[in-house]
Amino acid sequence: MNLMIESRLRELVQEYGNTTVQDAMSYSLLSGGKRVRPRLLLSLLADYGVDLYQGLNQACALEMIHTYSLVHDDLPAMDNDDFRRFKPTNHKVYGEGMAILAGDGLLTAAFTTLAKADTVSAATQMKTVEILARNAGAHGMILGQELDIVDNIGSVEALIQCYEMKTGCLFAAALEMAVVIAGKDDLQDTARTLGLKLGVAFQYQDDILEVTKTSDEIGKSHLSDGEREKSTIVTLLGLKRAQNATEGLFKEIKVLLDRLDLNGTELQKLIEEMIARDL
Ligand code: IPE
Ligand code: IPE
Ligand code: MG
Ligand code: MG
Repeated sequence: MNLMIESRLRELVQEYGNTTVQDAMSYSLLSGGKRVRPRLLLSLLADYGVDLYQGLNQACALEMIHTYSLVHDDLPAMDNDDFRRFKPTNHKVYGEGMAILAGDGLLTAAFTTLAKADTVSAATQMKTVEILARNAGAHGMILGQELDIVDNIGSVEALIQCYEMKTGCLFAAALEMAVVIAGKDDLQDTARTLGLKLGVAFQYQDDILEVTKTSDEIGKSHLSDGEREKSTIVTLLGLKRAQNATEGLFKEIKVLLDRLDLNGTELQKLIEEMIARDL
């Protein structure tokens, strides 16, 4: 599954020719992220017995959106980080202007990629466009980033809202697109709820890893939230209760998983892998 994703991403980004912005897009897109979001989409398809090629473009479109969000998130105007996916951040290599354009290029390329996804019916294709745009846009991930940079987060409730938006929405997009591609539209709400919770759990893990691992171990700037004195689940609850809250979320996620009417165990295996993640 990972090889499929890597080789399709490479093919898609190579279409932009030999320009500096293409080089900057490839630099971040092909720098070896964990590919969690496309794998969520494809694992759910596998569990519904759907040919993975039916959802490969959609999975890659989602990874492009995620990568653009990271390139912009690392910019000096946002988190000002200089290390990502075990490499210097995009703007450290290409400069801020080019990093902004590389993010813009990836965002646009995501929708070009969805337009190519003619392995599904035109009606399904439109649904995937709506799902990705809604979850990535100013009511989704971008709103989460807004809540994050405004940073008046003083309660666990407000933190969960921010995490659902900034991280959960792209996880929700993966699972919502998968159920729609599989023709199981009646499960879209359950898929969405599961995605949002998984995003919050994943972001809690990120907060925990930031205080339990070194920057070299996780491959990105370390303690940057701490240096910025931002609220995280660890600053709000302490490490032990943050770990308990994460475990609690994963229990709820497993209950939702049972409601997805699965014929296989790929998604379950991926979630187990996510529970154990240390990167
Ligand atoms: C990083 O996401 C940003 C968060 C939402 C925590 P990932 O941990 O999925 O990053 P990559 O794609 O593997 O680099
Ligand atoms: C990144 O959140 C989320 C998005 C880019 C949407 P963070 O800023 O908390 O994640 P890291 O620590 O930079 O990966
Ligand atoms: Mg950020
Ligand atoms: Mg950041």
